[in-house]
Amino acid sequence: MFFSNNFKMLSVRTVLVDCAQTFSNTYGGALRQSIYVVQKSFRRNKFSLAHVPPKIPVKIRCMREEDIPQVMELRRQVRVQDVPSVLQTWLKLDPEGMKVAVNENGDVVGAICITRNHADLYFAGMYCIHERFRGLNIGIQLCAAVLARVQNKNILGNAVNAMLEKYIRAGDLPYIDENFTTVKNYIPNYVTHNVLTNNGLSENIEIEPYQENLLSFIAQYDATIAGFERKRILELSCKEKDSQTLAAFKDGTCIGYGSIKRSCFDAGRVGPLFADDPVVAEALLKKLLESFPQRKGFAMMTLRDNIIANSFIRKLGNPETDTCVRLYNKEKLKVDTNRIFAVTDMNFSAV
Ligand SMILES: CC(C)(COP(=O)(O)OP(=O)(O)OC[C@H]1O[C@@H](n2cnc3c(N)ncnc32)[C@H](O)[C@@H]1OP(=O)(O)O)[C@@H](O)C(=O)NCCC(=O)NCCS
Repeated sequence: MFFSNNFKMLSVRTVLVDCAQTFSNTYGGALRQSIYVVQKSFRRNKFSLAHVPPKIPVKIRCMREEDIPQVMELRRQVRVQDVPSVLQTWLKLDPEGMKVAVNENGDVVGAICITRNHADLYFAGMYCIHERFRGLNIGIQLCAAVLARVQNKNILGNAVNAMLEKYIRAGDLPYIDENFTTVKNYIPNYVTHNVLTNNGLSENIEIEPYQENLLSFIAQYDATIAGFERKRILELSCKEKDSQTLAAFKDGTCIGYGSIKRSCFDAGRVGPLFADDPVVAEALLKKLLESFPQRKGFAMMTLRDNIIANSFIRKLGNPETDTCVRLYNKEKLKVDTNRIFAVTDMNFSAV
């Protein structure tokens, strides 16, 4: 069966690589090249194991809008603050990259997404299987289904600690980006915006709610943070129902923006929150919370290295936290983490 074969292969591979490394000091470059060939061939073997059928009958197909409530139930099981309208947005942007596994009763038992951020940049997320159906080789099937279309592309993803080592060893996402560890913060109680301040905001800075005519300015600013242009993604994101986006302008130039949306736990989830200046970030966060009163709890995904963003969370309350490590297969993002006070989301967007 898949499991024992897989582990045998991984351990044989580990022994071979260890042995080869012992000799590598002596034989240098040529041997290192052959280690690489051995590693590559074991990766190929791992992919061929994806053809072993799952232990129950499942069908893998593209996600549909009507699947979203069931997918959200899977996300609640793993306590992730996903937002249903974000899935609706990505179903418009890249439906082929979003897959579900459905059992014989037609119930959604698993999901995964690898969505296109731009022509060469894809983002992996949403990977989860219903808790009653784990360990049945369904996850591996889902992975194979989405990975097939992104061969040779740059792929990024956030890994929970329990899966980190497995992804690295499997070779799909072998590298860690040390500068992009994400902290998932969730405060289940109502938080008040009054503990945040906008006192330091200078008079020539205005904060405005999203309107169509601001999109180009926001997209231009966003590109200076993300490193690539994503106007269409932002347009759909800013127009999501039950969400609010605010942008800060100084003398007509965009210097930050942020959104708040309703998560599958009914929390107000803030993300993205980008700003050049921490004073502007705090003022945006305060106003976002103020503008979204019908929320139960608060969620925001910060970067571990942005100390100021994490201090805003502590002002608001005592969060449940969990960390995710950023993995990539080719190239990591080159971003200024000091300007990222909240990432856009954990599952679809690289930043
Ligand atoms: C992680 C998860 C999606 C795997 O799905 P699954 O159907 O249970 O996994 P399979 O039966 O297909 O996989 C068999 C084994 O391969 C591992 N595996 C699954 N996908 C893998 C991948 N892409 N790369 C490497 N290993 C993988 C599994 O963890 C499992 O290992 P184990 O026997 O040590 O437990 C599932 O366990 C889950 O929903 N976990 C909770 C949510 C979560 O942690 N998601 C990952 C976020 S990064």
